[in-house]
Amino acid sequence: MRILMVCLGNICRSPMAEGILKTKVEEKGLDWLVDSAGTGSWHIGELPDPRSIAEANRNGIDITDQRARQFGRSDFDKFDLILAMDHSNYQDILRLAANGEHKEKVAMIMNFANPGKNISVPDPYWDDDGFNQVFQMLEEACERLIEKHIK
Ligand code: 4NP
Repeated sequence: MRILMVCLGNICRSPMAEGILKTKVEEKGLDWLVDSAGTGSWHIGELPDPRSIAEANRNGIDITDQRARQFGRSDFDKFDLILAMDHSNYQDILRLAANGEHKEKVAMIMNFANPGKNISVPDPYWDDDGFNQVFQMLEEACERLIEKHIK
């Protein structure tokens, strides 16, 4: 499995999602590739947001090896599953898809925890208190994602 986590800036939500899933994949000894990207270009090359780094740290996860990059068309061939954090990421990713095969790879990440509900992971960029909630949501989705694929 090759999984790409996608948000808007690739500095708040998707770096946490990448860190959480990588940790679980390692714990379970799975040979999965996990990466993240943003649909926007503002933060290319930057470290994750300090608030995401701190929230991950509180949960024993180091995400300081990550640097933001922008999602691109070539990602459709490099990954099996492309997971959007919110509706707007989902639409932005689909707009770049060249065919049905590409489109089938794209899903809302919270549908692993709440199937069919299309719940968005809230953007915590403007909300200092939002990072813990985002972490909890992503933790559950990543756990369900792994359960679904190793059964
Ligand atoms: P993210 O959060 O998409 O979870 O990384 C954001 C980061 C930066 C901005 C918006 C959202 N921004 O507008 O720069």
